[in-house]
Amino acid sequence: MKTLFVNACTRKESRTLELSNYLLDKIGGNIETINLYDLDLKPFTEEMINFRDKCIMEDNFDDSMFDLAKKFTNADLIVIGAPTWDLSFPSVLKLFIEHINVVELTFQYGPWGDIIPKCSADRLIYITTAGGAVNEEQSFGYIKALCNTFYGIKKLDLIKAENLDFENSNVEEIMSKTKEEIDKLF
Ligand SMILES: Cc1cc2nc3c(=O)[nH]c(=O)nc-3n(C[C@H](O)[C@H](O)[C@H](O)COP(=O)(O)O)c2cc1C
Repeated sequence: MKTLFVNACTRKESRTLELSNYLLDKIGGNIETINLYDLDLKPFTEEMINFRDKCIMEDNFDDSMFDLAKKFTNADLIVIGAPTWDLSFPSVLKLFIEHINVVELTFQYGPWGDIIPKCSADRLIYITTAGGAVNEEQSFGYIKALCNTFYGIKKLDLIKAENLDFENSNVEEIMSKTKEEIDKLF
């Protein structure tokens, strides 16, 4: 089984990364990590969209622009680690999504404009931590919508550690309770 870890964690001491690593250790096996902050991903410009459309028209996906989409499409299990930022997630994750949503790679259109997912994965686990409460609608909810619409990934799990940044937060206890939730998954 090929697991793809999409790492949108920012800080060296990231608690989201700690939980992600705890989960990945349990999953074991063949794990590929994409550290989003190492990639220097650019937002899509008009030139990039035109070039991508041309490649799609020519059915030529050799350009390195498509590497992320191929990795995402070919993974059996996707793990996303992303801290809660501004009621959502860091923008590098949105950039990643822009880069992987490629017609004919991650999904295709049927004759009536219906979307036919092309991803191999049947499960995605989204891990986040938050200073306060996690706003699911703007974070996991969006990923869920993408999985339902474009990727065809059916089994979705949210692992979250909340209320970590208050003066009286018992961070150790919150983290170990979240690890117990992870234990239930694998
Ligand atoms: C730029 C930024 C934005 C944040 N926005 C939120 C937020 O909207 N809601 C919230 O509950 N916590 C917010 N926080 C707090 C983080 O979610 C919290 O500290 C989290 O555990 C950080 O994850 P990490 O330890 O993996 O870096 C924010 C922190 C930063 C740095």
